Amino acid sequence: MRLDPDARFQLDKPLDRDVDLYIGAVCLGKFAAGERNVPLSRLAMHFNHLADHKLTAKTDGGETVFHIDTRDFEKAYRTGDLLTAMQTALGGGKWRIYEIGIKDGSIYADVGFVFPLSIRTPVTVDLLCNGMSGVLLESEYDTHFGRTHWFMPPENVVRHKYRFPFSQVEGWAQFHLRALNGKSSDAAHYRDQWNFTNRDMLAELPDDTRIQRVASAQANRASFLNGGKAAYEVIQALFHRYGSAASKPEIKVLDWGVGCGRVARHFETDSAVQMTGIDIDKDNVGWCSENLTGEYLHVETAPPTPMPNGIFDLVYACSVLSHLKEESIDQWLAEVSRLLRPDGLALLSFHGTSNAVSYLSRRPEELRALMGGELFDADRNNELQGFISDEDYYRQVFSSDSWWHQKFSEFFEVLAIEPAVLSGFQHVAVLRLKP
Ligand SMILES: C[S@@+](CC[C@H](N)C(=O)[O-])C[C@H]1O[C@@H](n2cnc3c(N)ncnc32)[C@H](O)[C@@H]1O
Repeated sequence: MRLDPDARFQLDKPLDRDVDLYIGAVCLGKFAAGERNVPLSRLAMHFNHLADHKLTAKTDGGETVFHIDTRDFEKAYRTGDLLTAMQTALGGGKWRIYEIGIKDGSIYADVGFVFPLSIRTPVTVDLLCNGMSGVLLESEYDTHFGRTHWFMPPENVVRHKYRFPFSQVEGWAQFHLRALNGKSSDAAHYRDQWNFTNRDMLAELPDDTRIQRVASAQANRASFLNGGKAAYEVIQALFHRYGSAASKPEIKVLDWGVGCGRVARHFETDSAVQMTGIDIDKDNVGWCSENLTGEYLHVETAPPTPMPNGIFDLVYACSVLSHLKEESIDQWLAEVSRLLRPDGLALLSFHGTSNAVSYLSRRPEELRALMGGELFDADRNNELQGFISDEDYYRQVFSSDSWWHQKFSEFFEVLAIEPAVLSGFQHVAVLRLKP
């Protein structure tokens, strides 16, 4: 049988009992009776052994040896050493909270990480919840992150369960990585995650269909609220760090691609902020107008917008450039620069190299082209179907960090690219007008 680069590896027939799978002396773990798909992540990481030692299923009752032809896989990933390039491209910052709750009288958290190669494994993580250190209860391979990060060594893809020494939190639970392997500088790449603790906070959120149009089909009100809070904290922190207008008594803010206010709603407590939100999705803009403070406008897919030049202190866009073809990117970067005040700041998120290797991890030819300097915009995103007329407009868009840097430099002075700060995977470009 063949191991092909699209991970369609299957045993010829399902096994009739639970087995332990080995490549040479390396145990890949248990494999359940009746299953036929072997996780490519486990096989790929032991690629060299696989070619030499074969795949073996062992039970008390004996041993079955599978001979696997690795030629397609070799051709796709080994030529030009794509696997190594993928591993080294994956930066820090990827982590997510799967669940928090109260168990045996204490707060517990179930958390996934993908650590870059630069961090020595096994990794010790000093995780705090509202300032208090957690105790690590369990650590295992994270099969969820493993599906998209199969190319990383398994010891870098981990799921940790923690217990914290208290059972009550008011408002928000804030999860903060203080140190990795004792080093705070490595942990600094990991943005805080937030979790609401009171179900009343879910009241007055948009319904699921509106939420899923902006935050994927898997999103729900809880992830919408938590993710929006985390993004808001990032935008605030970057504005205060880089923006010269942050201390003004009145700050005019534009949320470009506001959706149904996932991020904008968190600015409502800041009385200095005058919020404007724009979006091509008329229905979501209408929801914002009826339910949030500020001015919300429907705009066309191509600028200009009906707003005067140079009026915003801050323009931010969460996950908008990550959906536009190059022609639209050019048009909208020009429009953002038109709308920005001379001392204003733009914070625009995008999918850079680190996230491209995850998204295209099983599409070697397209990934190779992207790493060679091309923009990837081949995949349509259908989330706005029925809400915008041009069904070809909205895409899944990725490129290398250097491609984006070059693109932003055509319109702005690039103050920084903050890696993986938005949702744990989108970079944010920190931009101001050229002098
Ligand atoms: C992934 S959603 C993110 C929404 C919101 N920023 C958030 O973080 O929840 C992208 C949003 O950008 C909007 N959008 C796409 N292209 C746009 C454009 N050219 N101008 C304004 N909004 C746009 C979409 O309608 C959608 O609401």
